[in-house]
Amino acid sequence: MSSAKEPGRENLRGVRVLLGVTGGIAAYKAAYLVRLLRKAEAEVVVTMTESASRFIGKATLETLSGNPVVDNLWQPALPRELSDVEHIGLVKWADFAIMAPATMNSLGKLARGLADDALSTIFAAFEAERVLLAPAMNTGMWNNAATRESMDLLARRGYAILGPGRGELACGDEDEGRMLEPEELLSALEEKAGRPSGLLSGRRVLVSAGPTREALDPVRYISNPSTGTMGRAIALAAWREGAQVTLVAGPGVATTPGPINRVNVESSAEMADALLGAAEEADLVVMAAAVADYRPKSRSDEKIKKTGEAMQLELEPTLDILSAMRDRRLGGYRVGFAMETGQAEARAQAKLEAKGLDLIVANDLEEEGAGFGRESNRVTVLGLEGFRKEYPLMDKDELGRQLVALIAGRAFGQTRGKANG
Ligand code: CTP
Repeated sequence: MSSAKEPGRENLRGVRVLLGVTGGIAAYKAAYLVRLLRKAEAEVVVTMTESASRFIGKATLETLSGNPVVDNLWQPALPRELSDVEHIGLVKWADFAIMAPATMNSLGKLARGLADDALSTIFAAFEAERVLLAPAMNTGMWNNAATRESMDLLARRGYAILGPGRGELACGDEDEGRMLEPEELLSALEEKAGRPSGLLSGRRVLVSAGPTREALDPVRYISNPSTGTMGRAIALAAWREGAQVTLVAGPGVATTPGPINRVNVESSAEMADALLGAAEEADLVVMAAAVADYRPKSRSDEKIKKTGEAMQLELEPTLDILSAMRDRRLGGYRVGFAMETGQAEARAQAKLEAKGLDLIVANDLEEEGAGFGRESNRVTVLGLEGFRKEYPLMDKDELGRQLVALIAGRAFGQTRGKANG
């Protein structure tokens, strides 16, 4: 598995950032921050306070971010994919939130749990570990005992506090209170995206997703309808929990954020090579890919011609990757999936034992709402010593988060304390 990526521009590719703009003169710099984020290929949604709109136009931020600005709790205008969820859906949508500029008032509200507009309500719902704050205010306000207390509280709760810096303030003084420059805020976000903290901090996690293609000739192959949605959701959830993630993805798996080390493969042989190589250094492997069990015994270099006659196809078994990991003692904690059409639990239990797994996620393709190509899934997880946990039908992203939390607990004894929910 490749080593941790240095903080760098690619860290923000595909990463979703919520930018909160509050009412200070530095709000005009938010426009440039949005531009930098978009250049780094991050997705951006802006939320702003009433007073921020006195300093910078909503239309500017909407145009630059390419998304509606969220400034009203009662008539939320949300990005297309969020239009059916309430404003708090942004907390799930975003990977990180940054408040820039953050005024004395907005910091005080966050510290004390006051939520009386869209911005403060949304920020109040984020875990501190995902939030960066860029204070900007007059030096007197920054030195005020109330601000000092707010900042102490916020720092202790795990919020990242960026600056403020020294420099010329709007009042003409040269002192502390100036918002860091957008480039500096961007670097802080890049670093954060490279190393989020959470239940899997410091762990190396290897995930497989999607189908494989076993070629018959240059234009034909044997495959299955897997889209890799479940495996991708697990890779994303593991990254959000601070893991260093490698995702080995079959054809057609949707894009993933820059910090995820992605290896694209086609055939089961390529998938096996990539996974067995990376498993050497992995602490955890989650095999969600729908790997072909058989491949054509020979591949024609030229397109096979039609003869009008019946045709026999000879297939040979592919390598069972999980069993190979067990035999070579690779991968650390190993989690498999079992796709079944009937008797899901009994068959999954048999696979758990046969493949030497620590956990297996069983799903029954015949259940409504579950399985290939769907956005939702309903699974039961089985483990050693009779462990069994049933999950209700849910969105695959949410299921990915819940499975990762379960795995972190069982594999490494990591559970979320009550304080940070
Ligand atoms: N798997 C694997 N290597 C293969 C085939 C499957 O590592 N060549 C993994 C899958 O990624 C999954 C688990 O084994 O995590 C179970 O896969 P599944 O297709 O349900 O079972 P199979 O072992 O292929 O058995 P069967 O097709 O007979 O149900």
